[in-house]
Amino acid sequence: MNHLLTLEALPASEISMLLDSAEDHLGVGRELPKRKTLDGVVIASLFFENSTRTKISFGLAARRLGAEMLDFSPGNSSTSKGESFIDTAKNIEAMGIDAVVVRHSSAGAPKLLTEHLQPRVQVINAGDGAHEHPTQGLLDIFTIRRKFGRIAGLTVALVGDIAHSRVARSNIHGLVKLGAHVIVCGPTTLVPPAIVTLGVEIAHDLDAVLPRCDVVNLLRVQFERQRTGLFPSVREYAQLFGMNGIRMKHAKPGMWILAPGPINRGVELTPDVADGSHSVILDQVTNGIAVRMAVLAQLCGKETIRNAECGMRNESKN
Ligand code: NCD
Repeated sequence: MNHLLTLEALPASEISMLLDSAEDHLGVGRELPKRKTLDGVVIASLFFENSTRTKISFGLAARRLGAEMLDFSPGNSSTSKGESFIDTAKNIEAMGIDAVVVRHSSAGAPKLLTEHLQPRVQVINAGDGAHEHPTQGLLDIFTIRRKFGRIAGLTVALVGDIAHSRVARSNIHGLVKLGAHVIVCGPTTLVPPAIVTLGVEIAHDLDAVLPRCDVVNLLRVQFERQRTGLFPSVREYAQLFGMNGIRMKHAKPGMWILAPGPINRGVELTPDVADGSHSVILDQVTNGIAVRMAVLAQLCGKETIRNAECGMRNESKN
């Protein structure tokens, strides 16, 4: 495996391999001792957009495997003096790093880095615009797999702002490849009809599909990515698409509630649902560390780095 830019490009076998590896990393650094898998590896995090969970989770994952994590915050850096994204990344690369974890508001920014950094530097997408957020997709799928023991045959609804959600796209690619039936549900203005080409069912009436769902993943309305008001009011959105106690009564018994966070209580879901016995929202956060350990170990583990270096030596001989 080279870089992690999307789940679209990752075959089902590699997704399953990462999920199995995440299983093996659960509890490492807490109930289980830290590991030295990434001893001597240096990883830089380049977050050009805000983050709570993803950034801390990657940092903990790296440290629990013995890697060094460098933190770059654009607000305190020379990007505020006009330095370009590529120049910033190349300067950080020149200090000697093995991988970058990058989040950017522009779709395609992580891919751009793969074209400008040395091939041995692994690029991991931590969210690019409204495109993909592969580790969030993996951790959502991992959380579902831990609850049901499988993905194939499950019905998973992604509810909310499908149009602007990178989490939706990564979930769709991963879930469909592993054999789930995916329903995308939201107001017509937030569900692009072309999404059907990804192999999903489109719905605009949550109450009609709810009894069929094994999992409901509640996506935040991405106000910061919308140019105009795409629905009349937040109150109306909550009434039509928010999960609440009444809707839970019509759900399939044993249905699990996921949300990638940040959650807006009273919008995508009411507090009783967020904190209720069907919610696995905080499990997702815990699982995210194991999933990111699996990704970092796969991309930056000694074997991978040795192979990449051998490849480069062979290339320079030819
Ligand atoms: C998501 C993101 O940033 O894409 N959050 C996350 O990484 N946990 C979802 C969101 O912002 O709504």
